[in-house]
Amino acid sequence: MSSDPLFDVRGKVALVTGASSGLGEHFARVLAARGAVVVAAARRMERLQALVGAIRSDGGTAHAVQLDVADPASVDAATASAAGLAGPIDILVNNAGVADTKASIELTEADWRRVLDTNLDGAWRMAQAVAKSMIAAKRPGSIVNIASILGLRQATHLLAYAAAKAALVQVTKALALEWARHGIRVNAIAPGYIVTDMNREFFASEPGQAMVKRVPQRRIGEPRDLEGALLLLASDAGAYMTGSVVVVDGGHVVNSL
Ligand SMILES: NC(=O)c1ccc[n+]([C@@H]2O[C@H](COP(=O)([O-])OP(=O)(O)OC[C@H]3O[C@@H](n4cnc5c(N)ncnc54)[C@H](OP(=O)(O)O)[C@@H]3O)[C@@H](O)[C@H]2O)c1
Repeated sequence: MSSDPLFDVRGKVALVTGASSGLGEHFARVLAARGAVVVAAARRMERLQALVGAIRSDGGTAHAVQLDVADPASVDAATASAAGLAGPIDILVNNAGVADTKASIELTEADWRRVLDTNLDGAWRMAQAVAKSMIAAKRPGSIVNIASILGLRQATHLLAYAAAKAALVQVTKALALEWARHGIRVNAIAPGYIVTDMNREFFASEPGQAMVKRVPQRRIGEPRDLEGALLLLASDAGAYMTGSVVVVDGGHVVNSL
């Protein structure tokens, strides 16, 4: 288990939403490898149990909690059970998210609601539930919202997702403003395109490769590319950062093509 005084998260309780796959699973592993007590949360319990088992066999500490961020009762229950299993939450990684790739003209009311309810309402619900417990306990904390470069720029066929992530950027800044007095820092990471199981095939395809050419660094990101930003914002290395949006995208947003 590595330690680094600047980016130290040893003994901190970190709740990671959407930890059953992709980036969330990676964030949970990274925080646990650095000595945080991780609570991995999502809807698919069997995947969370497998992750917790893997973290424990690597010598880390982790727990699994079922969570549907679109359900306020589930948010309250999961937050309480996370604190019951691991102790007061110090770090929330608000990572749960879904995308819907449809032309805007085809988007249904239900599609729009599902994407907004998960990526935006869900992140706000989680932030509020965790902040209430931090404020009541008079404990400082760090909230890291996983936004996207699509909260800062546009792409076709991702209307609801882009709207939700843009609003999450504003939520990040507004909560940072309100909660600084309680010692709660609220920041966001805006990843560019990162390879996870859900898009690996696409990036290997011809249209996927064309997209890679629009990234100034000429490559798609790997989950490990987000580790530095995560640890910066989660730990005291980011003690004077709140309301920041850290873009990690190989230069994608600065390319206007
Ligand atoms: N990969 C990228 O290129 C990229 C780029 C920018 C931003 N992001 C953002 O990064 C985050 C993770 O994306 P990913 O690529 O890792 O996708 P992913 O592999 O599909 O992971 C999404 C996670 O969110 C969870 N989730 C979805 N709906 C949920 C709900 N209602 N309640 C609780 N958990 C829920 C899923 O778990 P269950 O299904 O088990 O609930 C899953 O663990 C998302 O917020 C995404 O928008 C990704």
